Amino acid sequence: MTNGTTVASFTGAQPAQENILDGALAGLGATPKTLPSKYFYDERGSKLFELICELPEYYVTRVETALLGEFAGQAAALMGDGASIIEFGTGSSEKIGILLGALERPAAFVAVDISPTALRAAAETMARDFPNLAVHGVCADFTQPVALPEMPGAGRRVVFFPGSSLGNFNPEQSVDFLANAARLIGPGGGMLIGIDVKKDEAILNAAYDDAQGVTAAFNLNLLRHLNRECGANFDLDAFSHRAFYNAGAGRVEMHLVSLHAQTVTLGGQSIAFAEGETIHTENSYKYSIPEFQDLARRAGCEPVRAWTDAEGLFSLHYLSVASDPAP
Ligand code: AVI
Repeated sequence: MTNGTTVASFTGAQPAQENILDGALAGLGATPKTLPSKYFYDERGSKLFELICELPEYYVTRVETALLGEFAGQAAALMGDGASIIEFGTGSSEKIGILLGALERPAAFVAVDISPTALRAAAETMARDFPNLAVHGVCADFTQPVALPEMPGAGRRVVFFPGSSLGNFNPEQSVDFLANAARLIGPGGGMLIGIDVKKDEAILNAAYDDAQGVTAAFNLNLLRHLNRECGANFDLDAFSHRAFYNAGAGRVEMHLVSLHAQTVTLGGQSIAFAEGETIHTENSYKYSIPEFQDLARRAGCEPVRAWTDAEGLFSLHYLSVASDPAP
């Protein structure tokens, strides 16, 4: 039982801060140059991402929320009574709220997030909104093995991973991620995953290069983050945002383009850029419904049901973990 509006447990600990300078130097020393997309999300980057989610061109959040509103009842019926929901990443409280509201007597909700502050805020919101639910917070990097809290009497374990966040991994990493999640929840467990769908290139290009320039600011903020954290001296006016759908690879790519030949200093090292040279900052993979179902099977998951909107912009997948998940 819970005592009303408080969080039942906080476990785990923030992983040791990885050295951003090492990661940046490794990426900028490679050919072609890259930077990890996880460096987008400093405080300003997280706020810009929230603004992206409200852009008219970025259909992802709007369509997924509408799909949940329409189909959460069907998904909840597949999850059954007394399910415990494990959300990887604390995204929008609206989406998880729709799912929890549709479930019959959910037993527990576990929020897993690398940021203790985001975790505490998300868990406290859920404990307040769902006073009969045992809400747990686990501070962990969900790309690594996660230890779940004790959840006595809980039914099926179900992973909720919305927002097409899986699309920021490459397909091999996505299979590994799903296989790890399958091991965590065990045979009979379920997963509700939001996946962005392949579509007209013009729609994809606009979603990642919006008219107001919010996505451009989000991309360029990565350089500002490095200036602050690593004492780098990137001139943000000397780079521009480029985003396009790479049909051969099935992904939207984001790059930062050097507008002229220049040298940037980072951690005492000089990095030379030719005019037009790019830093590849993000991939966002898109999958047709059968493509994602194949990927799920490779991770030992059985596709049970997929839902999409009338225009086929976005998909929600319910998967169940086979009795013998992938090794
Ligand atoms: C977080 N992730 C799913 C977003 C995406 O669509 O790949 C990040 C993003 N990048 C640019 N716009 C949104």
